[in-house]
Amino acid sequence: MERVLVTGGAGFIGANFVRHLVSQTDARVTVLDKLTYAASTEALVGLPGSRVRLVPGDIAHADVVEPLVAMHDTVVHFAAESHNDNSLTQPAPFVTTNILGTFTLLEAVRRTGARFHHVSTDEVYGDLPLDDPARFTEDTPYRPSSPYSASKASSDHLVRAWMRSFGVRATISNCSNNYGPWQHVEKFIPRQITTLIDRGRPRVYGAGCHVRDWIHVDDHCAAILAILRSGRIGETYLVGADGERNNLEVVRTLLRLFDRDPDDYDTVLDRVGHDLRYAIDAAKIRRELGWEPQYADFEAGLATTVDWYRVHEPWWRRHKAASEAAYAAVGQ
Ligand code: NAD
Ligand code: DAU
Repeated sequence: MERVLVTGGAGFIGANFVRHLVSQTDARVTVLDKLTYAASTEALVGLPGSRVRLVPGDIAHADVVEPLVAMHDTVVHFAAESHNDNSLTQPAPFVTTNILGTFTLLEAVRRTGARFHHVSTDEVYGDLPLDDPARFTEDTPYRPSSPYSASKASSDHLVRAWMRSFGVRATISNCSNNYGPWQHVEKFIPRQITTLIDRGRPRVYGAGCHVRDWIHVDDHCAAILAILRSGRIGETYLVGADGERNNLEVVRTLLRLFDRDPDDYDTVLDRVGHDLRYAIDAAKIRRELGWEPQYADFEAGLATTVDWYRVHEPWWRRHKAASEAAYAAVGQ
């Protein structure tokens, strides 16, 4: 792992991962990123230019991908269209980037023999009932619900097929909902934090009973590095931190952190096809790789994230109005 190509390394998790990689290894890193609305080059500022370079480009373009992959021994693949709500209004880029982009990268690593790690999501497994203790494991059947999760499920299948058919050396991780620095204001937690900083009222879809399994982005990044270092080729690892909470609980925790009344929120139109509950059983990565999440206290992690958004207001402010206008257009 001397020369690492990180796709989507200017996005939320990708940029946090590049920072983690630079601090924990001697690797030289190239970020390949299309710099869509979701990218933040600011998130890479301050990293040593001798170790990290940014190449703007599209993972679905073979003429960009092939020569870059040829210069690296390892590819860590984050680049994606990542937001479920966007996939419901405009699904086309999800198919192009998440499916064709992954295909293009796989064809390149097939030729060069580079090690490939595919960053995926727990949403490929569909949802779980609210009143059932069951959790996702590596053996849970695929049952994606949204255009986003179906496109990620397709990309996982491509990775598995390229491993089995062509001997590509790859691993896959499927992680639950991340929170932390540099997450775009369209996503649930940053949307509510930034609205509260503006003294507004959080917006909860439907009854707020939907459950997500929250993990701090630093814990996700550490899990990916553990897989790169000692994960078994061909294997899938689920990543989660036992962070199940329903959306109303998260909003009420935030209201408490802002000294606001617990009922100071609005309910808005529910998401179409809204998955009820995600929950990860991360026993395999804990057992095999000794990975353990460091952010055991969700409220403390949330408080740190609130502080981060207060300090980084000039960054998120640029995106806030457009994001809220897009939500207003669909009644959310
Ligand atoms: P993000 O939307 O914040 O960032 C995605 C990045 O990919 C952006 O920098 C964007 O410019 C880039 N990108 C998009 N299309 C591209 C293309 N065609 N070519 C090159 N770059 C392109 O996403 P995120 O939340 O950081 O998610 C990163 C990865 O992690 C995704 O694959 C996502 O499915 C997965 N994931 C996310 C979560 C989560 O909670 N956010 C959880 C599990 C897995
Ligand atoms: O589970 C992993 C997935 O988590 C990742 O694969 C996705 O890339 C990531 O975006 C995330 O998907 P979700 O759809 O779960 O995240 P989102 O932040 O969009 O919403 C979290 C929950 O909050 C979901 O139940 C919808 C709800 N919600 C969201 C917004 C934006 C609200 O109630 N109000 C809101 O304003």
